[in-house]
Amino acid sequence: MGGLFVKKDLARLIADANDPNAGEGGHGGGTFKRTLGAGGLTALGIGAIIGAGIFSLTGNAAAYNAGPAVVFSFIIGGILCAFAGLCYAEMAAMIPVSGSAYAYSYATMGEFVAWIIGWDLILEYAFGAVTVSASWSSYLYSWLHKTMHIQFSDTVIRFTKGPWEMVVLNDGSSVHGVWNIPATLIALIVSAILFRGMKESAVVNNLIVVTKVTIVIIFIALGWAVVSKQLWIGDPTASGISSFIPVRQDVLRGTEMVKGFGWQGVITGAGVVFFAFIGFDAVSTTAQECKNPKRDLPIGILASLVICTILYVLIALVLTGVVPFNQLGVGDPVAVGIDRIVALRGWSMQAQQTFTFFIKLGALSGLTSVILVMMMGQTRVFYAMSKDGLLPWFGQLHPKFGTPHIATVLTGLFVALCGGLMPMHLVGELVSIGTLLAFVLVCIGIPLLRITSPEIERPFKTPLYWFVAPAGVISCLFVMSFLPTDTWIRLIIWLEFGLGIYAFYGWRNSKTSDGSAARQKPHMVIFMVALLAFIPTLIWAIKVFGHHKG
Ligand code: ALA
Repeated sequence: MGGLFVKKDLARLIADANDPNAGEGGHGGGTFKRTLGAGGLTALGIGAIIGAGIFSLTGNAAAYNAGPAVVFSFIIGGILCAFAGLCYAEMAAMIPVSGSAYAYSYATMGEFVAWIIGWDLILEYAFGAVTVSASWSSYLYSWLHKTMHIQFSDTVIRFTKGPWEMVVLNDGSSVHGVWNIPATLIALIVSAILFRGMKESAVVNNLIVVTKVTIVIIFIALGWAVVSKQLWIGDPTASGISSFIPVRQDVLRGTEMVKGFGWQGVITGAGVVFFAFIGFDAVSTTAQECKNPKRDLPIGILASLVICTILYVLIALVLTGVVPFNQLGVGDPVAVGIDRIVALRGWSMQAQQTFTFFIKLGALSGLTSVILVMMMGQTRVFYAMSKDGLLPWFGQLHPKFGTPHIATVLTGLFVALCGGLMPMHLVGELVSIGTLLAFVLVCIGIPLLRITSPEIERPFKTPLYWFVAPAGVISCLFVMSFLPTDTWIRLIIWLEFGLGIYAFYGWRNSKTSDGSAARQKPHMVIFMVALLAFIPTLIWAIKVFGHHKG
């Protein structure tokens, strides 16, 4: 005992989680308030899922990858997430603790893997919130400027994007932004809500979810009556493309004819729209704030996933049925869709403006709840890791509000800073790869635990687990393999950095260890491996990025 792969005692973990008077791991520091039911959890899932993915990325996947067959990309994305969702549901009901995938892997694969997954979850939750806060800022600017016709000075415009992004000034020239102030502000506002309490956060989330789902349903209902089957199966561009049936064919990209679309395009599209599904797993991080986690967590995870998948498929059908798919490669495809729907219905300009106003407002509110639930998930994972001694500071609960307030403040500052200043094209795909890695490990954990601990009570059992779990692993790895090399390099650099922190901090302070002499010193082997692996990664990165520039 006490080595790198020391496991948390499953029975102890479960007992602590079920004891209303014990914090995670039973190390004191206050207790969570149990305020969430099945409805609130499903709303949290929907709150985290419907966001930048559907409001921004769908259009790109349709225009550049899959054509109208993007609907198959959504179906594939939904099936992949269903495999992972079923595994999460079994884990969450069996081990209802706040660390989610981090805690499950501590019990199944040991401390070292748990550290890797906990560190990796920062990519999903904190960087997920960063990505969506930048998208929130773009939608806010578009809403104020294009819909409400408010004019901003050049100075203000430069403070709507970070220093790595370009902004268009009033005279039409492009310059670099300075600091994405709206992204920073929304992160700070959301942290203030999270600081105040889970009940208050859930109320805000419920309001937002009702707004965004209503707007999505209105969009689908208005559009369904005017979709053109010709746009799904016909020849919308006069370039010979018949794309609803994903046949690989010649496509005009710029001035070049390239092979595009087909099933390969559909799979690439699934990788792109995967971002739209991220978030259902965040529900599991609230395990210690649920009234009846064993029953309600599987409901929250699976119901939110099913509802969102159905909505996504319908949105994709409507969008590609009202707008020629090659015109959808814009940042706000749903707004473009509503303009077309209003025109097809022969309604007035006034009606068009009113609908655009509400669609953008719906998108803004939708993005807000994604940021809220992602940041909430991050604070719960930090809390759990800190309770286990693997991270400092984050393990305290606020005496009055019952929230992990230090984790909330630090996560808020981190997201606010990164959202304001980081290059967004770097973070979006990192979020997807980080999430997929977490899914892989949770899917591996299910058969492992069925074999090693068959006696544990499983309130929810993954059906056909011998098929679902390996299918989850394989399909996630498959989608990961389609992500660009740069994204892999960034993931590896991130993990190497994390190994360094584990070697110097987590290894020495872990509460699961036996306090042996080896644990008093930094783990130099891990540190050296991380350091040595860093050099070839860096050379590889320079080559890949150099190649891109060339
Ligand atoms: N699924 C979330 C979104 O699309 C991350 O914004």
